[in-house]
Amino acid sequence: MTAVGGAGVVITGAGAGIGAALARRFVAEGARVVVNDLDADACRTVAAEVDGIALPGDAASEEGVQALVSGARAALGAEIDIYCANAGVGEGSGLDASDAAWDRSWDVNVMAHVRAARLLTPAWVERGRGHLITTVSAAGLLTMLDAAAYSVTKHAAYAFAEWMSVTYGAKGVTVQAVCPLGVRTAMLGATGEAGRLVLDDGAIEPEEVAEVVVEAAVAGTPFLVLPHPDVARMYAGRAADPDRWLKGMRKLQARLEPDPPA
Ligand SMILES: NC(=O)c1ccc[n+]([C@@H]2O[C@H](COP(=O)([O-])OP(=O)(O)OC[C@H]3O[C@@H](n4cnc5c(N)ncnc54)[C@H](O)[C@@H]3O)[C@@H](O)[C@H]2O)c1
Repeated sequence: MTAVGGAGVVITGAGAGIGAALARRFVAEGARVVVNDLDADACRTVAAEVDGIALPGDAASEEGVQALVSGARAALGAEIDIYCANAGVGEGSGLDASDAAWDRSWDVNVMAHVRAARLLTPAWVERGRGHLITTVSAAGLLTMLDAAAYSVTKHAAYAFAEWMSVTYGAKGVTVQAVCPLGVRTAMLGATGEAGRLVLDDGAIEPEEVAEVVVEAAVAGTPFLVLPHPDVARMYAGRAADPDRWLKGMRKLQARLEPDPPA
């Protein structure tokens, strides 16, 4: 169990979408929240709204993460209790995605988590308590049509969260991976036809994600946080029969390509 009331919580990518909803929800539970976003104006707006601390900047680069963690520790006057590595990017689509898009996806969707964990874990292990919540995606358990770099890096983010839990779970570090399907944010709006096909129907509001995440954070369990419970069935289906699962996914893919080349 993590006491959320009074906890010092850092949320990356909290200037919009799921991160902003997490900031509101954690503050409603009595947490002291550090709001981070690359978009400084959005960051300051959300921080002002929730009476939080604005620390704009890049939550992915080594220098950016260092500045955020040290700035948050100074502003909170204490160790960070909960770090929500939430910022993410959905860049590129298929094989035409540039190396730069792959690099940015790797940096923001994966290395941001690794870099934060490097800085936070020693202090958390020493005091026997710490909590890392990563916003991954159902794409990290399954795959997302027309989003190669996103799917691959979200799988890596999920693997890193698992590795952290295995390695530090018995040393007082709680790790949770949040894997939503569609959530009505700017990112969903940018997914185009693929998003409309597989995400729009069951899409939920960022506030619903925040509700589930904060409830799981308080309980400290489960590891795999699923705001769309149906994802558990899909994930189990993929594991039980990968060929059947791939066949189903190819059917969906075919709907994106009404006239495939002969
Ligand atoms: N929206 C969905 O359908 C959906 C589904 C599953 C998972 N997710 C994941 O949820 C997380 C939040 O996404 P969202 O839907 O709220 O998107 P969003 O685009 O609404 O918000 C993301 C925020 O992150 C910020 N950001 C991007 N790179 C950053 C960086 N390097 N440092 C600091 N801030 C940065 C952006 O400026 C933006 O404000 C992402 O990790 C995303 O992959 C979203």
